[in-house]
Amino acid sequence: MCGIIGYTGHRNVQEVILKALETLEYRGYDSAGMALAYADGALEVAKRAGKVAKLRAMCEKQSAGSGKKAAVSGIGHTRWATHGGVTDENAHPHTCGRVTLVHNGIIENYQELTAKYGLGEKLVSQTDTEVVAALLDHFYEKDAKTAIREVARLLKGTFALGILFADQPEKLYAIRNVSPIIAGVGKDGREAFLASDVTALSEYVAEYFVVPEDTLTILEAGKITLLDNENQRVEPDFLQVDWKLGGNGKNGYEFFMEKEIAEQPEVIRETISCRCKDGMPDLSIDNIPDWLLSKYERITIIGCGTAMHAGLVAKQFMQPLLQLPVTVEVASEFIYEEPVVDDKTFVIAISQSGETIDTLEALRYARRRGAGNLSIVNVKGSTIARESEYVLYTNAGPEIAVASTKAYTTQLTALYMIICRMAYVRGVYTAKQAKEFVSALLQVPACVEKVIADKESLRRISHEIMDASDVFMIGRGLDYTALLEGSLKLKEISYIHSEAYASGELKHGTIALITQKTPVITLVTQTKVVSKELSNAIEVKARGAKVYVLTSEKVELEEPGQWENVYRLPALRDEFMVFPAAAALQLIAFYVSRDKGLDVDKPRNLAKVVTVE
Ligand code: G6P
Repeated sequence: MCGIIGYTGHRNVQEVILKALETLEYRGYDSAGMALAYADGALEVAKRAGKVAKLRAMCEKQSAGSGKKAAVSGIGHTRWATHGGVTDENAHPHTCGRVTLVHNGIIENYQELTAKYGLGEKLVSQTDTEVVAALLDHFYEKDAKTAIREVARLLKGTFALGILFADQPEKLYAIRNVSPIIAGVGKDGREAFLASDVTALSEYVAEYFVVPEDTLTILEAGKITLLDNENQRVEPDFLQVDWKLGGNGKNGYEFFMEKEIAEQPEVIRETISCRCKDGMPDLSIDNIPDWLLSKYERITIIGCGTAMHAGLVAKQFMQPLLQLPVTVEVASEFIYEEPVVDDKTFVIAISQSGETIDTLEALRYARRRGAGNLSIVNVKGSTIARESEYVLYTNAGPEIAVASTKAYTTQLTALYMIICRMAYVRGVYTAKQAKEFVSALLQVPACVEKVIADKESLRRISHEIMDASDVFMIGRGLDYTALLEGSLKLKEISYIHSEAYASGELKHGTIALITQKTPVITLVTQTKVVSKELSNAIEVKARGAKVYVLTSEKVELEEPGQWENVYRLPALRDEFMVFPAAAALQLIAFYVSRDKGLDVDKPRNLAKVVTVE
């Protein structure tokens, strides 16, 4: 939520910041802004409501032919609004006196601080952030370090701050609590960067580090200093940049989402193959010991949105196989439900970004109660990764489109590898069965490739549903859980109201919403419930629904003539049918959104990284 960039060095600062904001825009796109500092102490702020493209146009217009000197440093921000509406005024950076800053997070006690320090008259926006700028200006005498520490101690809430002092234009300061910031020195050793995540820096730095919490970070061209509260130097833990964004980042695709859908076969294959030794599932690359997988009596999976949906799919397979109670919890509800979590519970937290605050809080709660933990995370060094007992990193690479695709399917892949290893170490699977499972899982990438190659057929379905006001998706068991994700994809990027329903439950109320021509997509891939799913589909057809049957090549439809719209997915073992189904549903949602002319990658009101509760 919100993207931050900071730069000091020899390049064209405005351009570095604009490019980084374009990359970070998936973190929020209500407004964008930047501040440029000049060697003589002059400071320029440009900011406005709307996407980064508007800021770029504004900056390019202002700087055209101005013949100005070059800026020496700058900070930039792309916002997902929390406090204060989407206006130019509320856009970051915020300036007060000698201080200009950008912020990601929420300052909970901003009203109290405003009153206590009499800051009201200095404020022009409705944001919590501006109060931090005013406070810093209030405390800033000569020493920026003391002022920042003083202010950080007063703040309640979460923050990642990038700060510029007008009288120190060549330096940038940063400090954080919970909200992420990374930093790195440029490959040529003559510049320094800070950013909300590594996607913005992968072009410039070979290694970076996550700024430790409560550690003052000072950036100068070619040098970054970290100081603890006693002013002692802190040595950072470096991470290598191993994510590359090819070409302009979209590799010739019009949208990141389409590129990321297409990358799924490769990243699923990678997620399996690096955890596979002599055909057996092997989690030693993640340092996950077998005792962790065999010790606990019940499993709780926590996550939000798509990540939680991956957990729901896993439960369908995991619980019957391992004969362990498995609960899947919406992370934002978890801690308020007084869940049964103790030292007999194994908690699997799932998060692409590793920064989702609801998931993080749920994880902290569970660990405080003694639960064992393994988290499935995509972003290295992220907060959830660092606060987990064990981490398995998915090999999805950067996911930029807000609607998650390859992160979901690699989370599923990781979950299946964990389940298989668990089944083996618990004596549920023999080595032979575990190998058969992995070898069947290795067929998933080719199968997903086939679905992607057949995208025109899926596009035809999307054209038939694109003008609908409601689309229902129905199925049972694993099919139902796969549809929850399919339905989320459709609503988040096409704005069509969609509901996924357990098809047996439909007749207990929701069927009242089915009228003539209501599109209903039914997913029919699970052998044990095929006939039940089809009879539920007949029930809605009888009420006038237009039914689309997404099924596998191996399912035999009785009286096939009664189904006008049948789409066949390549066949796999039942438990893996979620993969081709996911790709098909992603593509249907993608084409609806794209062909409606919507901004597929940046759907309204959403952000990719959600660091507020
Ligand atoms: C946001 C995103 C979703 C994502 C969810 C969880 O709501 O828009 O796409 O599934 O957060 O994110 P995480 O990074 O924890 O997987």
